[in-house]
Amino acid sequence: MKLDVVLGLQWGDEGKGKIVDYLAEKYQMIARFQGGPNAGHSIHFDGKKYVLRSIPSGVFRKGTTNIVGSGVVLDPITFRSECEAIEAAGIPLKQRLYISKKAHLILPTHKIIDAAQEAAKGKSKIGSTLKGIGPTYTDKTGRNGLRVGDCIAPGFKERFDTLKAKHLDYLRSFDFEFDAEEHEEEWMDAIGYLKQFRLIDGEYFVNESLDNGISILAEGAQGSMLDIDFGSYPFVTSSNTICPGACIGLGIAPSRIGRVWGIFKAYCTRVGSGPFPTELFDETGERLRQGGAEFGAVTGRPRRCGWLDLVALKYSVMLSGVTDLIMMKADVMDSFDTIKVATSYIVDGQPCDIFPFDTQADIQPVYREFSGWKKPLSGVQSESEFPEEFKAYIDFIESELKVPVRIVSTGADREQTIVR
Ligand code: IMO
Ligand code: MG
Repeated sequence: MKLDVVLGLQWGDEGKGKIVDYLAEKYQMIARFQGGPNAGHSIHFDGKKYVLRSIPSGVFRKGTTNIVGSGVVLDPITFRSECEAIEAAGIPLKQRLYISKKAHLILPTHKIIDAAQEAAKGKSKIGSTLKGIGPTYTDKTGRNGLRVGDCIAPGFKERFDTLKAKHLDYLRSFDFEFDAEEHEEEWMDAIGYLKQFRLIDGEYFVNESLDNGISILAEGAQGSMLDIDFGSYPFVTSSNTICPGACIGLGIAPSRIGRVWGIFKAYCTRVGSGPFPTELFDETGERLRQGGAEFGAVTGRPRRCGWLDLVALKYSVMLSGVTDLIMMKADVMDSFDTIKVATSYIVDGQPCDIFPFDTQADIQPVYREFSGWKKPLSGVQSESEFPEEFKAYIDFIESELKVPVRIVSTGADREQTIVR
C-alpha cells in the first residue's frame, strides 16, 4: 500500500483542517508529519468549530486511527487543552490517537527563547506564532532535545532540568524579562496526561500498517512557501512542509508515496513577515480579509491578502510532486467583477518566472485578468452547475500547473465540497 500526502501549497491557512477531515472518510489512518501548535486547522461540522493544533484532523471520524508523527514538535500544555476540548465533545480520543516516541517536546523555556529572539530581531522579525517551534527544532538538530519517549524513561526530570539550565544560560544574553517557572508545574502535569496515550515507535507502526494494506493519509501543517529549505527564507517555519517532509517525519521511504494532494486558496494569504508579491493593500485586499474571515486561527492576527500567485504555486507543485489539486474559498470572490492571477514577475526590473532567491528584491507581479462569476458558489451541488467564468478560472489554473483540480470547496462546511 502507498501512503498519500495532503499539504498546503501557499503560506499556510489553505484550509487543510476542513479537507483532511473530509478526506479522512476515505482513509483508515491520518498521520501528522511535521510542525506543532503553530498550526491551526479549523473544522466545522454540526454547526460547531474546532481548531486542531498538533492533533491530526481525522480524530472526528469514527474508525480512524490518528498519529502524531516523529517530525512533529509537541507542547504538552497545548496538547492537553486541545485534547480536553475534543474529549468534552464526546470523542473517545485516547482510543483514536497514538503519539510517536520520537516527536520532540516543546519546553516552556523554548517559548521564552522564541519570544526573546523575535524581540531582539526588531523590524526584521519573522512574525513567529511564538509557540516555541524554532527553538525546539534547533535543539533537535543541535542534538539537545527531549522527546516524547523520554518522559517514560528514568531520569526525565534531570534531563529536563539540564536542558532548562542550558536555555537559561542562553537567555542571559538577551535583554528580555521572563519567568521560567511560570508554566513548569502545568507542563509537568501535562506530561502526566500525555503518558495516558499510546506512545509508539511511529516508523514501525506506519510501515507495518502499509504492509498490512491500511490506507494512510499524511497531513502536513503550514505551507510549502514556509518550508525551512525552500520557502521564503528566513521568513519561514523550522520544518520541512513539502512532501519529502512526510518521509522524514513518519519514517517511510520515498518509494512508498502515492498521491499528493495539494491544497491552495483561490487567492493568497500570509500571516507574519516576508515577501508576498501579490499582496493587496487596497479595498480589494480588505474584501478578501473580511469575506474570507482571514484572521489567524492561532494568533488572531489579520492575515495579509492578495491575488493568486501562479509562480509560487507552480514552484510548490514542483517541490512536492503534487498529483491532485484542491481549491479552497473561491466563494469568497463570488461578488468580484474581475479577478487577477499572477503568471510571472518583474524582479528588480527584469522579467522572471521563478520565485526569486532574494527576499529583499523588488518583485512586481504580472497579472492576467478574468471576469468574475458574480453568482454564489455556496449552494452549488455539482460541477455542472459551476458558472462559465468560474470554469474558465479553473481551466486556466489547471493548464498552467498541469495538474487537475479534483476538489473544489465552496464553503466551510463538510457538505460544501465538490468532487470533479
Ligand atoms: P497552518 O498549519 C500560517 C508562519 C508564522 C510566521 C512563520 C514562522 O495553520 O497553515 P513559527 O511559529 O513557525 O516560528 O512561525 O510561519 N506560520 C503559519 N502561517 N499558517 C500556519 O499553520 C503557520 N505556522 C507558522 O506566521 O510567519
Ligand atoms: Mg493557520
